[in-house]
Amino acid sequence: MAGQGWFFSFEGIDGVGKTTLIKKLMDFFKEKNYPAVYVREPGGTLISEKIRELLLDIKNTGILPKTEYLLYAAARMQLVQEIIMPSLEQGHMVLADRYTDSSLAYQGYGRGIEREFLNNINDHCSMGFSPQLTFLLDMDPEEAYKRKKEEGPDRVEQMGLEFQKKVREGYLDLAAQNPERIIVINAGGELTEVEAQVKSCIIKYIKRHSA
Ligand code: TYD
Repeated sequence: MAGQGWFFSFEGIDGVGKTTLIKKLMDFFKEKNYPAVYVREPGGTLISEKIRELLLDIKNTGILPKTEYLLYAAARMQLVQEIIMPSLEQGHMVLADRYTDSSLAYQGYGRGIEREFLNNINDHCSMGFSPQLTFLLDMDPEEAYKRKKEEGPDRVEQMGLEFQKKVREGYLDLAAQNPERIIVINAGGELTEVEAQVKSCIIKYIKRHSA
């Protein structure tokens, strides 16, 4: 369900280039005067950005797995109510840099929190707004690690390569369980290729589902 608008999310382990890709897509839709809104998780509203600081600060070593999840969920709920829901209701396109699948992959497969607990709360927080398509940028975690930014790892990235491997496997599992919605994109290639592939999927989807 996505109101009157289009809702597409982007997922993947750390360092696969999601944010760079979405920025390119935003430029493309802006050029075409197509109303598109970029949101990132955790973040995107005043409160959600404050929660983001708390979650990514390497000093916060004592966060328990379920507390961590509830904080991501709280940030998401605020974002859905303040930005995602109104944008979709106005018929805009929302491009989400992470959404509920991140919680299933990181907190579920990565940290071992049971799926039922995550699904229940995810359902509440997303208020029924789920992406029509999700692009899973898939890449070998070692390759992704090499691409990482210079400022050093945040609290999640500090979990290391083994954790990223579990998260990647989790994402691939989720894609196998949701073949209609989740499109796996090989993010190891050139950005221009990845961009062209994603753009073409979005345009085709919109054409096919427009009245
Ligand atoms: P961020 O710097 O935005 O990472 P990226 O640029 O790779 O998206 O940090 C977000 C981190 O939070 C990232 O490591 C994934 C993690 N995360 C979760 O563990 N669970 C969630 O539900 C979400 C939304 C993010």
